[in-house]
Amino acid sequence: MISTGQALLSEIEAFLAESGVTATKFGLAAVNDGHLVGNLRKGASVTLKTADRVRGYIERARSRAPAGAVSRETPATRRVLLIIGGGIAAYKCLDLIRRLRERGIAVRAVMTRAAKEFVTPLSVGALSNDRVFTELFDLDDEREIGHIRLSREASLIVVAPATADLLAKMAGGHADDLASCVLTATDKPVLVAPAMNPRMWLNPATRRNVAQLQADGIHFVGPNVGEMAERGEAGPGRLAEVPELVEAIEGLLGSRSVNVPSPRRIEDAPSARWGGRSLAGRHVLVTSGPTHEPIDPVRYIANRSSGKQGAAIAAEAHALGARVTLVSGPTSIPDPPGVTVVHVESARDMLQAVRDALPADIAVFAAAVADWRVAGQATEKIKKGGKAAPRLELVENPDILKTIAAERPGRRPPLVIGFAAETQNVLEYADRKRKAKGADWIVANDVSPGTGIMGGDRNSVHIVTAQGVESWPELDKTEVARRLVALAAARLADIAAAT
Ligand code: C5P
Repeated sequence: MISTGQALLSEIEAFLAESGVTATKFGLAAVNDGHLVGNLRKGASVTLKTADRVRGYIERARSRAPAGAVSRETPATRRVLLIIGGGIAAYKCLDLIRRLRERGIAVRAVMTRAAKEFVTPLSVGALSNDRVFTELFDLDDEREIGHIRLSREASLIVVAPATADLLAKMAGGHADDLASCVLTATDKPVLVAPAMNPRMWLNPATRRNVAQLQADGIHFVGPNVGEMAERGEAGPGRLAEVPELVEAIEGLLGSRSVNVPSPRRIEDAPSARWGGRSLAGRHVLVTSGPTHEPIDPVRYIANRSSGKQGAAIAAEAHALGARVTLVSGPTSIPDPPGVTVVHVESARDMLQAVRDALPADIAVFAAAVADWRVAGQATEKIKKGGKAAPRLELVENPDILKTIAAERPGRRPPLVIGFAAETQNVLEYADRKRKAKGADWIVANDVSPGTGIMGGDRNSVHIVTAQGVESWPELDKTEVARRLVALAAARLADIAAAT
């Protein structure tokens, strides 16, 4: 016996309401029991075998019903075709279907073969109150409701969870199963909710596919950053939470410009938790390290920057899915993997490389750029030769942060973040610097001798913005990077939502 008699009853009631069949006739047709529905209404339970037979009957009856006779309760203007991919997160689709239907959004599901390994068509069909489509070559389907019609009858196609394989198929235009056929045949907006292992999400092939799909106008929600189902695995790749999916779907369904909204607006819906926001499709530009200002071919002026903080920021932005350009002065640390690193020597080279890398969505100026360079750099090594010590004339270097922050709208990155290394009055000087340089935020740190911050692995920073100061405890530079990039991603989303 099963205790889900009531769940079965609600599926039967929905079917009776949409088909107009009487309770007695239904029972007789489905399991040859004219009292079935009456007994269920009185609270009786049923065996699994009976429940299966009832559901099978409903499914067969629906597939025979003429178009429009199914899902009568839902308005035709808000119909989602949900393509469920084969991932462990597929179970979240059950709740998603429930939440969408609560909002009066009709859901019809297509499941890939792999998806059926994670959730059953029976549960999906019971919750969507509609037939579930799985096979491309089902003669009945192709005659009665083929992939073109599946697409035509939807207002929006949602792919969740979108596996790396499904994204690859979409990007490549493959059409070898029902899900990919629908996706290649559709002219409706498509929202994908990726979910996969972080290494698969960060794999260069997946990155290329995501970039291609974004260029094709496909909308993205997530993935979020967090723990994976596999033990010890964490990073970007979690399916967006159901409320985030619902919000993204409602955003697309509700909008009049539903066929052409910017992908970014959806991905960065303001309610998404900032800690888990993806930077997929974004370009993040970071400067880091010192600059070397040559005196002659063998000597230079420099400072003690190690480049660790900037490299950590670049790595973190990459982990959140951004395309990252790191313009780095000479350092002894390895290049962060997956990041485009442009190696430069002097401040002027750095400014040029930064200019070449624009446009960017976020620019983080973590480099300790030398304020001055030597005027008239010697082309040959300056010899001691018993003469008086040479006098070095210094001229001011371009201020890269200030220059980029003053770029015209459109070219200026929407979020410009500078760093301030101070030895006294840290907050006061940092805020002055923020205003003077036109930066949106300044990450201020105290580098007085004895703090060990210059070249060390830890950092103690204050985030100075027009709204005030947020001070963080002493943290590893990687943790500072994680928090800073998450905060920047959230801010970028707010900026996008406000424009
Ligand atoms: O003026 P100061 O060097 O203290 O400013 C620090 C901030 O300005 C950092 O974000 C640094 O990367 C940036 N900066 C710059 N170009 C310079 C000097 C500093 O981008 N020439």
